[in-house]
Amino acid sequence: MKKIKLDLGEHSSSIFIGKNSVDVLSDLAGHTKIFIISDERLTSARKVLIRKLNRTKIPVFEIPVRAGEELKSIKSIYPLYGELLKLKADRKSLIVALGGGSVGDAVGFVASTYMRGISWIGVPTTLLAQVDSSVGGKTGINHEVGKNLIGSFYQPSRVICDTNFLKTLSEREIISGLGEIVKYSLTFDKKFFKYLEKNLSSLLKLKPDATLHAIKTSLVWKCKAVEKDERDLCGVREVLNFGHTFGHALESITGYKKYQHGEAVIWGMRFALCLSEVRGHLSQGHRERALGLVNLMHVPALPKNLDFERVCELMKKDKKAEGDKIRFVLLNQIGKSLSDHSVTKNDLTKAYKLMKESI
Ligand SMILES: NC(=O)c1ccc[n+]([C@@H]2O[C@H](COP(=O)([O-])OP(=O)(O)OC[C@H]3O[C@@H](n4cnc5c(N)ncnc54)[C@H](O)[C@@H]3O)[C@@H](O)[C@H]2O)c1
Ligand SMILES: [Zn+2]
Repeated sequence: MKKIKLDLGEHSSSIFIGKNSVDVLSDLAGHTKIFIISDERLTSARKVLIRKLNRTKIPVFEIPVRAGEELKSIKSIYPLYGELLKLKADRKSLIVALGGGSVGDAVGFVASTYMRGISWIGVPTTLLAQVDSSVGGKTGINHEVGKNLIGSFYQPSRVICDTNFLKTLSEREIISGLGEIVKYSLTFDKKFFKYLEKNLSSLLKLKPDATLHAIKTSLVWKCKAVEKDERDLCGVREVLNFGHTFGHALESITGYKKYQHGEAVIWGMRFALCLSEVRGHLSQGHRERALGLVNLMHVPALPKNLDFERVCELMKKDKKAEGDKIRFVLLNQIGKSLSDHSVTKNDLTKAYKLMKESI
């Protein structure tokens, strides 16, 4: 098992990664009650967790939820406050969120607002949640106007990335997490990129050593970015959005139904790599090598007759747009990113053409 720390002073989180890392939950002194709010589909993971938590002798309560984007709404989370009140959760109670990113985002938000905030622990069960969404304290829900518009920064005291829980993931879910893993390598770490070039097939099979290494390396980079910019104010966390401008537009235009989040990010990285070359930051050779890795992750095709004009409008609406120019995180080398504030519509059209030629 590996342990890393997200060092944010009073808001620090301890992160445990590996097989059976859920064992660290035996010591939870100081809490009056424990509430496991979990994805209802994860019956065996929930049983394992309850067995561990029962050893603490603290009363444990289960609240199942239906995971997915629909959970991230006022309507879906409102009954959770009622359940907690009915079960007399107090300010010394602990919430444990068991599930993928939707559960972590929604339940973390409930923890941050119930009685002005009570302690919580994240137990992410998808690869995407283990390498990305569970760490960094962004919790929240959606509004009909857009995703993640209501939320808070609220760090869990611990994050438990138990790799045993990943065994039941579908190949699509694994690829979705790998998309974010490849993102860290492209933006921060050439050595990690070379490792992924050699080991992507082992990761697709969730081979233990490769999985542990990839999760740990990803989270070390995520922690570094969050430690420098906890509240996403000074641009450091922006790098984590590599591939997300086009990715978010694609998710939105397809109604959040066609692609998993990481799959849309994989398309977004293809686009951002081509745009990096069009803008003169990245050489053709580096773009082709990076795409070589990205293209090993198979994802659903782009919609037939994708309305690229509409995609451009959505990208402009993204918070990274300034006037007519769109701001993009791009690469100037594999493992090195930059923020380009001067991307024009013409650049976007050229990048889209290049991307279609290079699929
Ligand atoms: N807070 C952040 O910083 C951040 C970052 C990235 C993404 N996100 C959010 O994360 C969400 C997407 O994450 P996700 O894909 O993990 O979402 P999810 O919770 O919807 O999980 C995806 C699917 O996997 C299933 N599942 C979960 N664990 C499983 C397991 N061990 N075995 C089999 N199936 C399992 C779920 O039931 C669900 O059907 C989005 O809402 C996105 O906005 C948040
Ligand atoms: Zn993402």
